[in-house]
Amino acid sequence: MSGIPATDYAAWKKLQQIYDAEHSRLVLRDLFAQDPDRFAKFSKEYTSSSGPDVTFLLDYSKNLITQSILDTLLSLAREAQVESFRDKMFAGEHINTSEDRAVLHVALRNFGDFSISEAGTDEVAGVLQHIKEFSNAVRSGEWKGYTGKAIDTIVNIGIGGSDLGPVMVTEALKAYSKRDLTAHFVSNIDGTHISETLRLCNPETTLVIIASKTFTTQETITNAESARDWFLATAKDKAHVAKHFVALSTNTPAVTAFGIAPENMFQFWDWVGGRYSLWSAIGLSIALVIGYDNFEQLLKGAHAMDQHFLTTPLENNLPVLLGVIGIWYNDFYGAQTHVLLPYDQYLHKFADYFQQGDMESNGKSVTKGGQRVTYQTGPIIWGAAGTNGQHSFYQLIHQGTKVIPADFLAPATTLNPIAESKHHRILLSNFFAQPEALAFGKTEEEVRAELGPGQSEALYKSKVFEGNKPSNSIMFPKLTPATLGALIALYEHKIFVQGVVWGINSFDQMGVELGKVLAKKILAQLGSPTDVKGHDSSTTGLIHYYQKHRQD
Ligand code: F6P
Repeated sequence: MSGIPATDYAAWKKLQQIYDAEHSRLVLRDLFAQDPDRFAKFSKEYTSSSGPDVTFLLDYSKNLITQSILDTLLSLAREAQVESFRDKMFAGEHINTSEDRAVLHVALRNFGDFSISEAGTDEVAGVLQHIKEFSNAVRSGEWKGYTGKAIDTIVNIGIGGSDLGPVMVTEALKAYSKRDLTAHFVSNIDGTHISETLRLCNPETTLVIIASKTFTTQETITNAESARDWFLATAKDKAHVAKHFVALSTNTPAVTAFGIAPENMFQFWDWVGGRYSLWSAIGLSIALVIGYDNFEQLLKGAHAMDQHFLTTPLENNLPVLLGVIGIWYNDFYGAQTHVLLPYDQYLHKFADYFQQGDMESNGKSVTKGGQRVTYQTGPIIWGAAGTNGQHSFYQLIHQGTKVIPADFLAPATTLNPIAESKHHRILLSNFFAQPEALAFGKTEEEVRAELGPGQSEALYKSKVFEGNKPSNSIMFPKLTPATLGALIALYEHKIFVQGVVWGINSFDQMGVELGKVLAKKILAQLGSPTDVKGHDSSTTGLIHYYQKHRQD
């Protein structure tokens, strides 16, 4: 984040030499055989130092590292001034240089001890209070719709960071939800999304939450207008909008122009990046679904992880360890992707959420100083809940030709202990087995011994698992709001660390602009073939095909 190309660091050069000289000898079978204490050396237990009790185990022993490689990776983090940039972030310095903004999602969950001087940080407690009062009123039935009925359905309209966080968290914490309050999330501009959702809603008992930091996002505003039309088709009187529409935004004039009363607007600030906004007013749907107290536990769990990140020496600092180990694969092993594999159905949106969190942050190819990087930056993030993924894409992770570092996550205790936790024991047996199989594989000798003589050579070969596939495993006692908060913050800070080392600005998202601008230009040309101008032959051909075949 200094803008210095990562390849300039002495530690980077050393890592390249180590990789060239040693990578063929970095074999997990051997590394474990040589050192019976490997797990003890390369695993850490996290315990929160404030707020609700959170603990989890991070096992990073199944990585293609030695102590000296890890030390060099940590030297790289030091050379890139990770600690100094971390301190600048927490102090509210404008480390988002392209937009001249602070990066202060940590201020949204700052229960007391960080002193941050940035306009708006003193208003956080007031907005939390607003969220508390409003969510309590809706959940208790005290907040009434225009016909005097309580709210039983909420529809959050937002996209990107104004959708993915609330969707992921409300799914993850469904066990803590108010079951008679149904939550829907509409993001896509495709009219199918809002139409199918509103079909399930009664205007008399539905609360629409318009979640948009800018309040200019085309998808969200168009969906919000359609929701308002749907509501007014029944309610008739615009005055009733006040009981059924609230806004979460930084843009007061646009919210007012939409017709939402100032007291129904939940404020946040430009120093909250969209992909970090679930901790802000954007989390209103979370507070409505799981209750304010649980929402606060989520924030407190994240806050304790912030303290860990801020105060723990790098060699014990979990986001730093995950960050530098990720760099080892991304930049030296040539890994293109990183897979997130939660063995918890409640976390089935975890990878979707961090696709934005990571890829919008570190999908950059110029340094902060404007130089084109000559190395790889952010990985492609993907994943799915175990065990489902095992029956679709794991084959490629085990026996394909690509290096795919994986993170496995699982709770020791299920929130649904049906059949005397039989399901959970089976789930966990897979959670333990997959990293083991990836790391240690199955040799040709083992295959031959298993199959016996007389089989085709092709069959012997096809059953070999090369192994040596790296992974981290994270295990926690139970999925609580505070544990989830800590895990999200863990990954947020990991992404931060990597961005600092790569010298990029992890906090803007200029790359989404061009497509938006072109779409606006094309929208104005869709009426008639003669309007279609200024495009390449492919784009022109596609638009003409649409114009010939549309029936609406
Ligand atoms: O896709 C770009 C982006 O700006 C994201 O960063 C953001 O989360 C999303 O659009 C939604 O923006 P807004 O909350 O302003 O509607």
